[in-house]
Amino acid sequence: MALLSVPEINLQVSDSQQIKQFLGLRGIFFDQWSCDVDFEADASSETILKAYEKDLLPFMKNGGYESADVISINSTTENYVAIRAKFLAEHTHSEDEIRFFVDGSGLFWFNLETEPVFNLLCERGDLISVPSGSKHWFDAGEKNPYVKAIRIFIDMTGWIPEYTNSKIELNYLDFKVVRK
Ligand SMILES: [Fe+2]
Repeated sequence: MALLSVPEINLQVSDSQQIKQFLGLRGIFFDQWSCDVDFEADASSETILKAYEKDLLPFMKNGGYESADVISINSTTENYVAIRAKFLAEHTHSEDEIRFFVDGSGLFWFNLETEPVFNLLCERGDLISVPSGSKHWFDAGEKNPYVKAIRIFIDMTGWIPEYTNSKIELNYLDFKVVRK
């Protein structure tokens, strides 16, 4: 279940509807999908995509999305330090970045510039669409990362990051999620 935090004002929101409303007011789509399947650690992409088909296919059709795949990051992922660094630097994309969390967790950070930076802890069942052009970064943690997520695209080239080089993310490296 997602958890929204605004560190500067010490705000935490755990209610899904309130999170949806907070993000929706800022043009960020958030939803939650469920399925009855508990996946094996080595479950194939096909198995995972099939299990979420009832939500995934209508979502893709309505949004004009062409493809979906599954990414997995865990403690055995090669070059994780370099992979983390790529996600961790503030950037934008020319296409919406849509991620559905099948398992594990990660923090999406948003810098909308007109208000304090906030983050969304995404966990199993959470879908987030980071709007094109919005400044954001992502962290699966320094140690023991675990993310299994469906990525949904119009065109994969739209997901290439354009880095802002602001280094704003460095101000938040010490942030720890602690549910109140
Ligand atoms: Fe991104």
